[in-house]
Amino acid sequence: MTESHTSRTLCESADVVVLGAGPAGLVVGLLLQAAGIDCVILERASRTHVQTRARAGFLAPNTVRVLERHDLADGLHRDGRRHGTCEFRTEDGRFRLDYGSLGQGGQHHVYPQQNLVTDLLTRYLDSGGRIRFRTEGLAVRDADSARPSVTTREPDGRPTRWTARYVAGCDGRHGAARRSLPPDTVRHHRHDHGVTWLGLLAATPPSLDAVGYAIHAHGFAGHMARTADVTRYYLQWRRGTPADAWPEQRVWDELDIRMRAADHGPLRRGALLERGVFDLTCDVVEPLRHGSLFLAGDAASLLAPAAAKGANLAVLEAEILAQALVDALARGDTAGLDAYSDRCLAHIWRAQEFTGWMTRLLHAAPEQDRGAGGGSFFHAALQRSRLNSLRTSRIHQDWFAENYVGV
Ligand code: APR
Repeated sequence: MTESHTSRTLCESADVVVLGAGPAGLVVGLLLQAAGIDCVILERASRTHVQTRARAGFLAPNTVRVLERHDLADGLHRDGRRHGTCEFRTEDGRFRLDYGSLGQGGQHHVYPQQNLVTDLLTRYLDSGGRIRFRTEGLAVRDADSARPSVTTREPDGRPTRWTARYVAGCDGRHGAARRSLPPDTVRHHRHDHGVTWLGLLAATPPSLDAVGYAIHAHGFAGHMARTADVTRYYLQWRRGTPADAWPEQRVWDELDIRMRAADHGPLRRGALLERGVFDLTCDVVEPLRHGSLFLAGDAASLLAPAAAKGANLAVLEAEILAQALVDALARGDTAGLDAYSDRCLAHIWRAQEFTGWMTRLLHAAPEQDRGAGGGSFFHAALQRSRLNSLRTSRIHQDWFAENYVGV
């Protein structure tokens, strides 16, 4: 790393500049650091914010493998809990899928993402990794050259310019990496599933020993354990309605209705710690490479949350990118970098396809299709058929297990 000062702009350098300290950026940084590659992570938020940002923690076997391979799984094995069952509740009753024992998929580990990020960050810092918090990437310049640069704003507002050999854009869907893509070469695929969720974080232990998916005439409801004392709930929500439109009592009463508590037992109520409304949308950026700039994680593609795949896909892409960067910088072999985009896009489109299928399984008709004379009936009949196939066909269950857990 060298420093120089031109006028007021501080100039620094690294072989690889990583934008973003989420799961993708931290895994890239850690694997580069372990291989002796000179890298720096530039993170817009504070360390406290990065480590406390509550996010889903459903880690797939591949994510566990990456963590174990790089000796990063101690916290996960100490505090994480294995999870391998889904429970579907419909008008035809309920059925459970022990996906952990089906197909080749394996089980999830429930381990809050903020714990994972803290483990990764702590290891990165303890091993001497360089990271700059509260440093916002503004733009990636000259990505089509062998000497790209990243302009940033320091915590005190001072501009800085980082030069690098490669840039790993792991700064999410609204980050500088995406903004810096040349519009004439990038294809940006966007899709709106036509469904909106109210996401809830409740201070109460889980009510089921499974991921709960409830399909009801009122709409979808979901239940996902987060920790022993906190549970995530979802309610399909009318688009445009604010998150705080209903008092807590009405939220719990509606969750009871949709999860058919009268038939299957009451939900364990508790204070609602967080509420958030979000549309189920997804997108994919193609290609994932622009010269010396590579995208990974949410910067590369965004998945609807129906199958909790986001962080697992981010870790997979980060491992592939880090290995390719090490091959290029340590051995002069750029084959991995040349293949990176196509290889990760294959995983991304597979995850998008399954997440789209799962979203249609859980929701009768997208908002825009309701009321289209019989449209919602048609969707409801398709949905019921999908659920019955999943309930009765072992082959379908194996397919579900392999895709639900795999990335
Ligand atoms: N400059 C520097 N850092 C930035 C910038 C920027 N311009 N913009 C965003 N960031 C940081 C954010 O503060 C965040 O810490 O980039 C990081 C992006 O992290 P994530 O959003 O977690 O994205 P990613 O690492 O790709 O993880 C993807 O993990 O967060 C879960 O399920 C979620 O699908 C998501 C998955």
